[in-house]
Amino acid sequence: MLQRICVLAFISSVSLLALAQPKIDPKSIAPKMQWFGDAKLGIFIHAGIYSVNGVDESWSFYNKKISYPDYMKQLKGFTLQKYDAAAWADLIKESGARYAVITTKHHDGVAMYDTKQGNLSIVKATPAKRDMVKPLFEELRKRDIKCGAYFSLIDWSDSRYPGFRKDSSRYDVHDDFDRWNQFRGFFQSQIKEISAQFNPDLWWFDGDWEHSAEEWEAEKVRYLILSKNPNSIINGRLQGYGDYATPEQNFPVSRPPANWWELCMTINDNWGYQHKDHNWKTPYEVITIFVDAVANGGNLLLDIGPKEDGTIPEEQVNVLKELGAWNAKNGEAIFNTVGGIAQGHFYGPTTLSKDSTTLYLFVHGKTSGQLMLKGLDNKINEISVLGSNEKITHKVVGKISWSPVPGLVYINLPESALDKYVTVLKLKLDKPVKLYRGQGGL
Ligand code: GLC
Repeated sequence: MLQRICVLAFISSVSLLALAQPKIDPKSIAPKMQWFGDAKLGIFIHAGIYSVNGVDESWSFYNKKISYPDYMKQLKGFTLQKYDAAAWADLIKESGARYAVITTKHHDGVAMYDTKQGNLSIVKATPAKRDMVKPLFEELRKRDIKCGAYFSLIDWSDSRYPGFRKDSSRYDVHDDFDRWNQFRGFFQSQIKEISAQFNPDLWWFDGDWEHSAEEWEAEKVRYLILSKNPNSIINGRLQGYGDYATPEQNFPVSRPPANWWELCMTINDNWGYQHKDHNWKTPYEVITIFVDAVANGGNLLLDIGPKEDGTIPEEQVNVLKELGAWNAKNGEAIFNTVGGIAQGHFYGPTTLSKDSTTLYLFVHGKTSGQLMLKGLDNKINEISVLGSNEKITHKVVGKISWSPVPGLVYINLPESALDKYVTVLKLKLDKPVKLYRGQGGL
């Protein structure tokens, strides 16, 4: 079915491309998005030669912080000497993540796999002399973790690509269409290679902002991918032809309208490994951000930046392990749930079981005592704290017999039941959650 939709979409591409917002019908992609909606946590891996000197991935030469030749000298220092894909996959599994996305090529054009399209790859141009993606995908799949390929549409190293540095361009696409068309052939061949070699469950495009959907042939790119694997998910950086939104580093305050979205976020201040960046987010910060994304109906794609020898810095390992321990205890409230109740009922994030008869309340930090829940028009059958045997009591306050307005629920959360980071209260309701959203006695 999906394949047919895509073939039809491709055939009619000429007329569709004329429309400003050709977008994909969300209903037609819903079934394949199920695992993604349930997965909640992905690990993003920015592996690249930029880890050698610890400079900004690709952007450092674009922004002239380093000359292009000096940037490229890093090729000689990329060894992957201690790269252990099985250990990476173990760590990702331990974190609780259900998918991982690795850079197959960043804007610098260096392929992290064995491309046949030219010589700029870690296989041909670095002492590592090997493909990183293949062994990682194999190990991830053994552990039932979905595999994502980050791919930069921009390729600032390729002489057929129009842009290069911030204030320099090579040519304008419209002035030399043949040259642009050759570049398109090149990047689309790489996409076909990645499809054929790795069959990603998810494609994470980047850099679409430099050209329009028509210029990238975004609809054709989508078709290339889906004709190989109709269940592939495509992120929202393909000029309107992706399946889900990717807010970057910026945390939504109210619930985003998108059906599916994923917050991608660095673990310190940079995507790739930079030895000078010690601004690590703490496990508490990462967990509260993660919970917040899930409560608002989204996923978190948490980035790690491995070193040039293939090791993952210990601070990053620590965050992933702490996150994993928290997930092992509290994951029932996260994985396979849906976003929680509207803001205003409880002063913290919430999620719901899919049948919405179980409500999970997340309590940050050291808050204990009587917690208030407003406007819950349900009977609570039982309250517990995940990972604790403490008996949790509650009291309904201010219920007026003749009024339809529910009373206030006060839940007693003893200090002894608190989690190190975020405590989860599980409320079993008598029926699917029903909320009073009125203005009281007005
Ligand atoms: C931005 C940056 C890129 C980074 C990506 C991750 O698009 O250009 O360097 O890899 O964000 O989301």
